[in-house]
Amino acid sequence: MKKSNNFLADEEDPLFATTRYDVYNENQYQLKLIERMTYMPEIKPQTEALTVRDAVRYRRSIRKFKETVVTIEQLQPLLEDAVYAPNHKITEPWRFLYATTDEAKATFVERFIAFFKRNNPNAKEEKINQYREYFSKVPALLLVVLKEDENPVVRNDDFAAVSALIQNLQLLAWDQGIGMVWKSGRILYDKDFQQEMGLKENERFAAILHIGYPEEVPEEKSRQKASSLLTEIK
Ligand SMILES: Cc1cc2nc3c(=O)[nH]c(=O)nc-3n(C[C@H](O)[C@H](O)[C@H](O)COP(=O)(O)O)c2cc1C
Repeated sequence: MKKSNNFLADEEDPLFATTRYDVYNENQYQLKLIERMTYMPEIKPQTEALTVRDAVRYRRSIRKFKETVVTIEQLQPLLEDAVYAPNHKITEPWRFLYATTDEAKATFVERFIAFFKRNNPNAKEEKINQYREYFSKVPALLLVVLKEDENPVVRNDDFAAVSALIQNLQLLAWDQGIGMVWKSGRILYDKDFQQEMGLKENERFAAILHIGYPEEVPEEKSRQKASSLLTEIK
């Protein structure tokens, strides 16, 4: 059967019935269309999936979200594809923790704040309240867990692979109108936080992704022209 790229036709297509395309209901599809029209003026309103180039070029890190939650059922098919990131010797050094409920997010936030206080004993209550306020508006958190090999070369390769996976996920999500921001920082390496979150001795976090439908899509942050960085070796 011919694969369809047309979102509106996907319902009819058994090939797509269990793929990422079935996560879209009509409202979300409309939202996505509006977002594309509003924020991606160079892309014509369309019924087709983004091209790889457009996904790469028009993705933005999203830090303000609508309330609607991206459910684990919606996330999972994206991850099923994202794990096809290049991965030397297919070590698959990853697993994922996803928090969408108020309870799960509150547990994360309290552990995050405990980490912050450990490292900033004089932190002002105002700063802590700002974190609480920010996290209260993040619909979902994906904690990407990375298995750390003893061999530093394998460890580096594995971090490169998980980074490729995360970018795959960001692009696949963007195609579905889902935004995220990749958060890093010292918390990724904090042993107490790792333990509290149930990580094994040889695991750390590669990233904490804040996920949801974009409330605000920032302007692009321009990059240097690659032509100024590219040298042909002769
Ligand atoms: C490894 C990595 C770590 C990042 N850590 C953070 C972070 O801790 N906080 C944050 O707000 N954004 C973080 N970002 C997102 C970048 O700030 C963002 O990609 C950059 O500003 C460019 O914006 P764009 O993604 O919209 O093009 C991180 C991105 C990467 C690749």
